[in-house]
Amino acid sequence: MAASSRISVVTGAGGFIGGHLVAALRRAGRPVRAVDIKPIDDWYQVFPDVENLAGPLDGDCRDFSVCRRAVRDGAEVFQLAADMGGMGFIENNKALCMLSVLTNTHMLLAAQEASVPRFFFSSSACVYNAEKQVNPDITALSEPDAYPALPEDGYGWEKLFSERMCRHFREDYGIQARVARFHNVYGPHGTWQGGREKAPAAICRKVIAAKASGKHEIEIWGDGNQTRSFMYIDDCVLGIRRIMDSDIYEPINLGSSELVSINQLVDIAETIGGVKLKRHYKLDAPRGVAGRNSDNTLIRKYLGWEPSTSLREGLAKTYAWIEREFHKQVESGEAAALTVSTFSHGSKPIPGDGFMVESRHMDTWKQGIPVGYGDRAEPKPAVAGAARG
Ligand code: NAD
Ligand code: GDD
Repeated sequence: MAASSRISVVTGAGGFIGGHLVAALRRAGRPVRAVDIKPIDDWYQVFPDVENLAGPLDGDCRDFSVCRRAVRDGAEVFQLAADMGGMGFIENNKALCMLSVLTNTHMLLAAQEASVPRFFFSSSACVYNAEKQVNPDITALSEPDAYPALPEDGYGWEKLFSERMCRHFREDYGIQARVARFHNVYGPHGTWQGGREKAPAAICRKVIAAKASGKHEIEIWGDGNQTRSFMYIDDCVLGIRRIMDSDIYEPINLGSSELVSINQLVDIAETIGGVKLKRHYKLDAPRGVAGRNSDNTLIRKYLGWEPSTSLREGLAKTYAWIEREFHKQVESGEAAALTVSTFSHGSKPIPGDGFMVESRHMDTWKQGIPVGYGDRAEPKPAVAGAARG
């Protein structure tokens, strides 16, 4: 690494958390290199003054040569790239979730080879032992609860393996790896439709769709009694920065400790939308664990801080953003091409609700396997970033 380098490298920068992290690093005056396999037009946030490595040829972090270029002269690497989504996605795409091991391995290896001083890995609450999450009124999960290991099949096993790889790279090669276990993050500029969305965005969209269609009904996956805590994006980005700058070597929870049932989440979204809906429970939909909360004892001890944005406050901002996106789509006519609500047949087509098996058959890059993978030309030189943001 060049002695004077201050470059922050963010992978998964075209995604939800990565986009917000790039924005925050920019605001802090850091030069940023943003990397994502998605074509740049599909990034949630794009900044003209940032070096963007985008698309299957320049931004696929499964490819070691891309990783080498991405970390060059980097002072810190935030490894957020992953094939991920809510329960509807991770329960139906386990092989794809496990393939993120290539991304994590190659980024760690490239960072170590280039002597990048700091490396951040975004792990997940999905690493926790499933047997400790069988009741909705769960005791909050503390860090040792990841062992003995029984994580979420596919996605959780990959995260747990990559956590351990970070640890061994730190112990054996001295790279300063930091690992945070995110608990369900939500906010504007994130996935709200298409099959990868998580409960907060999905519920906002369904409430908005019900209002728009005039059919005041909502489909909820499971019985609605399952519990979660949801962390607002601003807390997540602040926590990432603080954990990266700390001396916390072991994986640590980064999540809200405000526990709600999914029914309570729907109550809040309905209040924000000013509507009351008839609830239908889809009991065979992907449900995940019965209860999950974040024990924040450790993060309070180390940082004297924990995520504190209330769900009511964060969801209002998220709802407002999704509502704008939703109406943009309806007005542009794009909505007709999207899934239609299970409760809106015969009414005006709107971005719908319901479990989308179609998400298995999305465009190849959305699945994470780029067109021409394994049959590529040499990566092209970096294209300085463009346009929006
Ligand atoms: P996201 O899907 O919005 O962003 C991930 C980005 O990674 C996407 O833009 C995707 O195109 C990119 N990507 C996928 N494969 C890639 C590859 N091979 N090379 C380069 N880029 C690739 O997800 P997010 O919510 O922003 O999550 C960011 C990170 O945080 C992920 O590692 C995720 O597993 C982790 N995490 C998120 C949550 C959450 O609730 N959002 C919870 C736990 C952990
Ligand atoms: N996605 C979604 N969509 N979930 C719904 C819906 C809906 O329309 N209706 C009810 N739910 C229920 C799910 O069945 C699940 O029980 C709960 O809401 C939470 O679902 P998600 O938000 O999709 O996922 P999760 O909390 O189980 O897991 C997420 O968070 C982890 C970190 O805490 C996932 O995004 C994981 O990938 C992530 O690591």
